[in-house]
Amino acid sequence: MDEKLKKATEICERYHQEQLLDAYKRITSEKEKQDFLDKILTINFKQIEEIYEGKNENKVKFTNENVEPIDFVDKCKLSKDEYEKYEKIGVEKIKSGKLAVITMAGGQGTRLGHNGPKGTYDLGLASHKSIFEILTDTLKEAREKYNVDIPWYIMTSDDNDEETQDFFHKNSFFGYPQKCVNFFKQGKLPMVDKNGKILIDENGRIKEASDGHGGIFQSLRKDGVLFDLKSKNIEWVFIGGVDNVLVKPVDSVLIGLTCSRKAEAAGKSIIKASPTEKVGVFCKHNGKPSVIEYSEISKGMAEERLPNGELKYKESHILCNLFSWQAIEKISTQKLPYHKALKKATFTDKNGKVIIPDEPNAYKFESFLFDAFESLDNIVILRVKREEEFAPVKNKEGQDSPETARKLYIDFHTKQNSEK
Ligand code: UD1
Repeated sequence: MDEKLKKATEICERYHQEQLLDAYKRITSEKEKQDFLDKILTINFKQIEEIYEGKNENKVKFTNENVEPIDFVDKCKLSKDEYEKYEKIGVEKIKSGKLAVITMAGGQGTRLGHNGPKGTYDLGLASHKSIFEILTDTLKEAREKYNVDIPWYIMTSDDNDEETQDFFHKNSFFGYPQKCVNFFKQGKLPMVDKNGKILIDENGRIKEASDGHGGIFQSLRKDGVLFDLKSKNIEWVFIGGVDNVLVKPVDSVLIGLTCSRKAEAAGKSIIKASPTEKVGVFCKHNGKPSVIEYSEISKGMAEERLPNGELKYKESHILCNLFSWQAIEKISTQKLPYHKALKKATFTDKNGKVIIPDEPNAYKFESFLFDAFESLDNIVILRVKREEEFAPVKNKEGQDSPETARKLYIDFHTKQNSEK
């Protein structure tokens, strides 16, 4: 038996993943056979086993005993002096080229039902701007205001990297200097069935899915972005999602406040609209800054109210966070926990038949960027106004849909123009 096959067989047997060897046998092309073995040899089976087994732990991480609300600064309530002080510090940092922006655009956008990277979605404005063009506008505005080219890094995934880059090229980077726009890819992990067996996809290859945006820190290190940022003397990095069309990545007050507090990171929050709104909430967990994701918060905690009637956990995380370069460097060497989500995933069964399931059948493993907050001593939370900074495009219809985001976008810009 050839050495590579022997090694792959040993590993699959050790981790009870022999179905991969069956899939190997079904491959007819010699080249594809070799690629398949190479893939097996790159998988960290122990890690997959450990993450899968974690599923059975009844681990309730956030409880009333270990969680408390987090302090925040309300941007609207800053005194004129405070506002001007923070703004001055922030503007100085921006003008001297200390800020970079990262947009995380590696997700699939399945809920939106758009066939392509989410950023390429036409929001339906009269201008027919795509989400990527709307995001580029914020950097173009900052360029004009501060006379500086802010480096922009876009995180893609294997599934959408080529299409994303083509879109930018085809649209001449929407008028932003091409040399300032960089792309890097996030990582992937195999998907497993309910019994922990790695799945084979419809093309006979190992079924993989993006490993969540928490993988960003390791990808930044691995792809050399961390080094690139250092060589550009970047001190602060704003990291945001792709799907908020009111995102303000260049925020002098946020930077100034974070510098003044000597914090390693900051996050923007808005007031949670209702206990069931699909947003994570900032909190303190065992005394450390943290976020309880909406899919993981208990009903009791989500609904708990203070004597004044306000929700106890109401500082919503809107995926608009700022990190110092040092914080990213520190986090990039750490392991973040994985969260498991049961998804519907098309796969090839042991007889070589492609199965399209009706029910969720496979686990996807994802790490979340905000789990990194717990390794930081101090982060600043800046509460901002929802109508000024949060217009998410998540679902095809209803809440957080193109329709609601478009209205928020138009209202905001109409108001802004009338105030000019
Ligand atoms: C996310 C946050 C939630 C927050 C809400 C605000 C997570 C896990 N939760 O929820 O706390 O309140 O936004 O709108 O993020 N992405 C990647 N790679 C991935 C996964 C996601 O780049 O592997 C990007 C997506 O392209 C998107 C963003 O991360 O820009 C958010 O991901 P999504 O899965 O849509 O999170 P939400 O459930 O909306």
